[in-house]
Amino acid sequence: MNLTSNTILITGGAAGIGFELARQLSGRGNRVIICGRSEEALLKAQTHVSALVTRVCDITDHTSRQAMVSWLNTAYPELNMVINNAGVQYRRMLKEAKALENLEQEVATNFTAPVRLTGELLPLLNRQQKAVIVNVSSGLAFAPMADIPVYCATKAAIHSFTLTLRHQLKATAVRVVEMAPPIVDTGLGGGDRSGGTTGQSMMSAEDFATEALIQLENDQDEVLVGLSAGARKMGEALFERMNGT
Ligand SMILES: NC(=O)c1ccc[n+]([C@@H]2O[C@H](COP(=O)([O-])OP(=O)(O)OC[C@H]3O[C@@H](n4cnc5c(N)ncnc54)[C@H](OP(=O)(O)O)[C@@H]3O)[C@@H](O)[C@H]2O)c1
Repeated sequence: MNLTSNTILITGGAAGIGFELARQLSGRGNRVIICGRSEEALLKAQTHVSALVTRVCDITDHTSRQAMVSWLNTAYPELNMVINNAGVQYRRMLKEAKALENLEQEVATNFTAPVRLTGELLPLLNRQQKAVIVNVSSGLAFAPMADIPVYCATKAAIHSFTLTLRHQLKATAVRVVEMAPPIVDTGLGGGDRSGGTTGQSMMSAEDFATEALIQLENDQDEVLVGLSAGARKMGEALFERMNGT
């Protein structure tokens, strides 16, 4: 696909992987709209890349999300790419007290909200000659880490949803892509990465985005970078290796 002259929404685009995708896509001549909950973070992103369009939106909040969808329909009727990137990660040892804190927020951010946003933006995307939905999953969708069980389950869910959505939309002009990052050096999970993943090699957000955009440009349905490619192949064998003590 041509990665220039598109109008792109990136959820969670003010930080980490989302910001780096936004920065590189903006540099390639795309109009890039980033959304997130923190206005301060969005404005900070804009100081680095002045061409970014920002929108405060909590994707888990119906009113906030629907206001953004309505604004996009009016202000950016040419929107032809959505990158469902926003995500949160919490450690949960189910034997411990407070293990289920923020459970609904984690499930909503990583799974329910992107599904809703996709459904709400589909009529707009369907009006374009060509459109793309990119769902950011994780290598952990294929081989979960035991100390972040709900996070991994939401990523497995978004992987499954992406497969079925691609099938449902195969006769349309809307392409559906899964992007599965490996361990990327961002603030995810408060920057305090799962014990099992810190031992694995971590890449920078810049290197990740560069490689991911090459694969996206090459029309791959599954953008699998670094360890994620192996995880997709090895699945359960890797689960044993990662959690085997
Ligand atoms: N980093 C990794 O190792 C890794 C590996 C595999 C997959 N991933 C996936 O990659 C994606 C990006 O993660 P990251 O590492 O870049 O994390 P990050 O640096 O923590 O960034 C997450 C972004 O999501 C936004 N966000 C969180 N909740 C939101 C909500 N309810 N509504 C709107 N925006 C929200 C945050 O902004 P606000 O707080 O301002 O809302 C932030 O900009 C996630 O889906 C993550 O699961 C990351």
